[in-house]
Amino acid sequence: MKKVKIILDKDYVIGKVDERVYGSFIEHLGRAVYDGIYEPGHPLADEKGFRKDVMQLVKDMKVPVVRYPGGNFVSGFNWEDSIGPVAERPARMDLAWKTTETNEVGLHEFHEWCKKAGSQVMYAVNLGTRGPDAARNVVEYANHEGGTYYSELRKKNGAEEPLGIKLWCLGNEMDGPWQMCAKTAEEYGRVAHEAAKMMKWVDPSIEVVVCGSSGVGMPTFGEWEYKVLSECYDDVDYVSLHLYYNNPHRNTEDHLAASQDMDKFLSGVAAICDAVQAKKHSKKQVNLSLDEWNVWYHSNEQDQEIYKTKPWGRALPLLEDVYNFEDALLVGLTLITILNHADRVKIACLAQLVNVIAPIMSRKGGGAWAQTTYYPMMQASTYGRGTSLNARVQCEKWDTAHYKDVPMVEAAAVMHDDEGITVFAVNRDLENAADLELDLRAFGEYKKVEHTVMHHDDMNAVNTENDPDQVKPEAPVLQDMNEKIVLPAASWNVIRLLK
Ligand code: AHR
Repeated sequence: MKKVKIILDKDYVIGKVDERVYGSFIEHLGRAVYDGIYEPGHPLADEKGFRKDVMQLVKDMKVPVVRYPGGNFVSGFNWEDSIGPVAERPARMDLAWKTTETNEVGLHEFHEWCKKAGSQVMYAVNLGTRGPDAARNVVEYANHEGGTYYSELRKKNGAEEPLGIKLWCLGNEMDGPWQMCAKTAEEYGRVAHEAAKMMKWVDPSIEVVVCGSSGVGMPTFGEWEYKVLSECYDDVDYVSLHLYYNNPHRNTEDHLAASQDMDKFLSGVAAICDAVQAKKHSKKQVNLSLDEWNVWYHSNEQDQEIYKTKPWGRALPLLEDVYNFEDALLVGLTLITILNHADRVKIACLAQLVNVIAPIMSRKGGGAWAQTTYYPMMQASTYGRGTSLNARVQCEKWDTAHYKDVPMVEAAAVMHDDEGITVFAVNRDLENAADLELDLRAFGEYKKVEHTVMHHDDMNAVNTENDPDQVKPEAPVLQDMNEKIVLPAASWNVIRLLK
């Protein structure tokens, strides 16, 4: 058996884990909203039309924040369409996803859904076809006490109290040519600056996320962040990062090594923020909002077919990736990477939450189930709150076809208030288990270890409505501290050290 050692020390602290790193995303896209979280007439719908089975899966994942309403969708969205009597709301052509948006679910409905789910809304404003004026108006509508046009309109629409939305995105992926009214860095930097300034004048308690480049592979990447932040550094709190893994070589070893791209991406964007900070002699630090990340490629061909047969349909089954076991390992590896950047990553949204590249699936009129990727997310959100420690991993490394020096084991460790520790670890080795030695330095005695393993012999195994438990963590095993801890080949592990 191979060996791996993880050294943990109380004093090797990366930073406090911001619970918002366990966030997610619901866009008006495909069946995320309609026939996803909302399906009036379903036997399990509540009085507002929200599906209770879907809601339960969301609650079990403990999602602190949900980005909404887009995504690409937001760049053509009029927020005013989504308020007031439902019957009077317009149906619109959504140019982003070539579908019809009926606006049956809007700001109030989504806010209410989030409240039931125990989540906060992270609201994106349209800086594509709209601009700073619409942005400041929606902040007034949502957050101003009363006595003004938009705050009174909110009351008229049934919400006496402000909605209290604290986190706002300044548009979405504004350097992407696919975006409605895409912009150059100079154009966007100015608009973002003015929007952020006015939105904060309306409500100084809000935080705002400025768009970074839409991807690390974009020709604009790097320079975009530098130029945009140079325009608006003092008015923004976070810069956004988006990363989707698409398994380009259809190669498991490469796919599992791809979290290294995330690691470099996070360090790179943090360095650009710091470069602008230094240039501006600013005392303020801009942090990272990884507000879209996931695996996304399984549904690409299917989507092309859908567009051929159902142009401008409502709730088209778009981006319905069916995730396999190897995707779940990569999601686990990414969560480890995020925790290892806890000093800079303050928000992260698994994109998305229901039906659209999602950990949770539902069938119209049928059941709801958890995909493979649901489990690492749910366990990290449950056990990964506290202080992220610098877990020093000593293990074998190898090269894959497209990555160099890939460690066999990746790990992150979180220390809780009661000094319990949770170690998350992925063994990337597809053949060999690893014997884990924990060197706990100044931590003192722990009595018990609770170890939960998620493994499947078939990397392509998936969960379906009829077979929902094919890939999921095994029951936890409680053992004494002096017993061996083994990380099986190809496994996601949650190891809880208990005093
Ligand atoms: O999450 C799906 C899409 O991916 C989002 O709408 C967009 O922001 C990104 O390109």
